[in-house]
Amino acid sequence: MSRAHAPGRVNLIGEHTDYTGGFVLPMAVDMGVTCEATPRADRLVTAWSREMSGAPMAADLDNLAPGAVTGWAAYVLGTIWALGEAGVVVPPCDIRIESTLPAGAGLSSSAAVECAVALAVLDLAGVRMQARDIARIAKRAENDFVGAPTGSMDQVASMLAQPDALLFFDTGLDITRTVPFPLRANGLHLLVMDTHAHHQLVTDEYGERRRALEAATVALAVPSLRDVQDARSVESLTDDTLRRRARHVVTENARVQHVIELLTAGEVAAVGPVLSAGHASLRDDLEVSCDELDVAVDAAVNAGALGARMVGGGFGGSAIALVRATHVDVVRSAVAGAYRARNWREPDVYDVVPAPGARLLA
Ligand code: GLA
Repeated sequence: MSRAHAPGRVNLIGEHTDYTGGFVLPMAVDMGVTCEATPRADRLVTAWSREMSGAPMAADLDNLAPGAVTGWAAYVLGTIWALGEAGVVVPPCDIRIESTLPAGAGLSSSAAVECAVALAVLDLAGVRMQARDIARIAKRAENDFVGAPTGSMDQVASMLAQPDALLFFDTGLDITRTVPFPLRANGLHLLVMDTHAHHQLVTDEYGERRRALEAATVALAVPSLRDVQDARSVESLTDDTLRRRARHVVTENARVQHVIELLTAGEVAAVGPVLSAGHASLRDDLEVSCDELDVAVDAAVNAGALGARMVGGGFGGSAIALVRATHVDVVRSAVAGAYRARNWREPDVYDVVPAPGARLLA
């Protein structure tokens, strides 16, 4: 039997840049998915989830193909398929997963499932592989088996994150580097506010943003939006939508670099306003926010948070707020109050610190 744990993530800054060759700065959280893989004697793989109660999903190991399974089990069986595509001889096995991540909160529970399953099954198969390669297989499961056209941030964060640090990931050059993020030493807290909103499930907004950014890249005649040196050149785009979409990515890449400069200079609290600027850009230029996220962000900032922004793909999920220890309670109650005033269910709030990446368990 093999067991592995893979964490969810929050992204401090660098949103909707990972599929454009841009920069991201995520960290792992102390919530995630644990996977147990036990060998079987036949040719089946079964998947069971504590959170999705019900009978295990079973699939023939020799006939796994994209489209064969949908729903939560696709993340498990898609990872098995992607491991096979990468040349791993996957042993028939029972897979059991347990998650401590809030479902639909935008903390990348899907990447955590993929990474935990890949690590446990590789161990069961007796195969050693670099963490970056495991992240690649996990992403392949998500893109080609589940059919979600996501970038590579979530799987890379889950596999490579380090405690007390952010993971700078240059998705274009495929380079990662840790950036220390000493929250408590600076009297700071990072609150994750799960809005319980899930508008993204009903649309292909993510794919639409991706296509718009590809069109903007072609119109600007650059290899990638990261190659736009002068943000003003984006203003030459005649199509208003493409101009705003591209402006988000170009300014967001600059914000990631600015945050790294601030952290390197030890100015952790000064990161706050950059987060808020990132939210405004996601809301107004990329248009991937929603009322629930905007209300949480505005309430947090009005109550004294140093900065706040939505995280992840958008249209629901979670927002983060960087808050001085002295303001944690007032920010929490201001956000809850703003939701109550609208008759919305109050957000669940998690006070997070950067956690370690995926690992095998004894
Ligand atoms: C989702 C995707 C990531 C990334 C973010 C937006 O979480 O899975 O690849 O694109 O959205 O930054």
